[in-house]
Amino acid sequence: MPELELLRFYVLWFTFYTMDMEPITLLKNKRILLGVTGSIACYKAVDLASKLTQAGALVDVIVTSAAAKFVSPLTFRSVTGRPVFDDMWRLDGHVRHVGLGETADLLLIAPATAHTIAKLALGLADNLLTTTALAARCPVMAAPAMDGGMYQHPATQANVATLRQRGVLLAGPVEGRMASGLSGLGRMMEPSDLFGHVRLALARTGVLNGRHVVVTAGPTREALDPVRFISNRSTGRQGLAVAQAALDAGARVTLIAGPVHQPIPIGAEHIAVTTTQEMADAVCEAVVDADALFMVAAVADFRPETRADQKIKKTDQAWGLAIGLEKTLDILSAVKEQREKTGFPRVTLGFAAETQDAFEYGRHKLLRKGLNYIAVNDVTAAGAGFGVDTNRIALLSSAGLVEEMPLQSKTAVAERLVHYVAKTLNSR
Ligand code: CTP
Repeated sequence: MPELELLRFYVLWFTFYTMDMEPITLLKNKRILLGVTGSIACYKAVDLASKLTQAGALVDVIVTSAAAKFVSPLTFRSVTGRPVFDDMWRLDGHVRHVGLGETADLLLIAPATAHTIAKLALGLADNLLTTTALAARCPVMAAPAMDGGMYQHPATQANVATLRQRGVLLAGPVEGRMASGLSGLGRMMEPSDLFGHVRLALARTGVLNGRHVVVTAGPTREALDPVRFISNRSTGRQGLAVAQAALDAGARVTLIAGPVHQPIPIGAEHIAVTTTQEMADAVCEAVVDADALFMVAAVADFRPETRADQKIKKTDQAWGLAIGLEKTLDILSAVKEQREKTGFPRVTLGFAAETQDAFEYGRHKLLRKGLNYIAVNDVTAAGAGFGVDTNRIALLSSAGLVEEMPLQSKTAVAERLVHYVAKTLNSR
């Protein structure tokens, strides 16, 4: 049958197209119940189910009969590899909702139509999804999707407020073009953003729950003139991975980042900076109540003594070819002084990017900058350092070597670093 062939082709294409995720520790074997209700945004729920599955979650999908008209249950089954539940009551139908609701780590309803939101607000239970929502003992999250001003209607607003009051987590909706061609607030949040919200919901019981963590990432830049600057090759990957790992551990994260080339993790408070001085000011302010500081940024150590107001011309003899440089502020040394007076941040971790005698230089930096930990990496080693997805780190404390880590992904490195800092914090 041509339709079935077409569907198979679509599912295969979709599976390969979205094969871009690596397993995520937080999501591994987590049971996510994905409730899908009847909206054109159902096709985005397929992408979300695929992303969650690739990240290691066990995704059980419940489709309402309206949702099944937009996307076939077979499509969900193909991306999750697990049974899909619909409204067809079978022999065990009378207890299925209890089983699903009790074993899940999160019930995520995406897309959530105005109608389902209204039913949830009233506690109506007329299909498998709404009965399961009543039986659920896990956190519930809804991603509203609706068209033509329906979200702003007082009835919907009252229902959303009721759900929020009851502790339901609302993700979106967002502004944009809707199926009717109208623009406004009502689009379902994009799957990649929803994915970040799922992580936040699952992280709430993590080892850094209730902690404030400050992370710096990326390079800083020092301007020579309005178009040129001095900087370094950092892309921010390791710092962003540390911010994400701290979020996954349940922390409130302030991310102070120079110009980075990757998306900012969902849930981090992002402070964008350019120069070393701007980063220093932001860090000193953010750490006043911080439990931990991860100083991952590759900070520019020098800046031009003078900054030209206009673009420097090749023919401008006054400038010649020499550029006078002066040292920038050492941010960790400033933090050390502040910490000696206030006790904050409680725990500090720095990085040492070295090209020779990495251990020896690392140990000196740890002592000079008054750190609890230093993550030493030889940036010239294969697969380590700037612009790659992997890193090879040796973690030192004032007592000596803590762990010499193998070459691994920056995500795995970040999780190890967060583990040690959390252990130090929680042992006090
Ligand atoms: N760092 C800082 N302020 C600076 C420079 C670096 O706080 N002006 C921090 C980095 O974020 C890192 C640690 O200090 O956590 C070590 O950085 P690194 O570049 O390895 O060492 P430097 O202190 O700059 O010393 P050197 O360049 O001489 O190796």
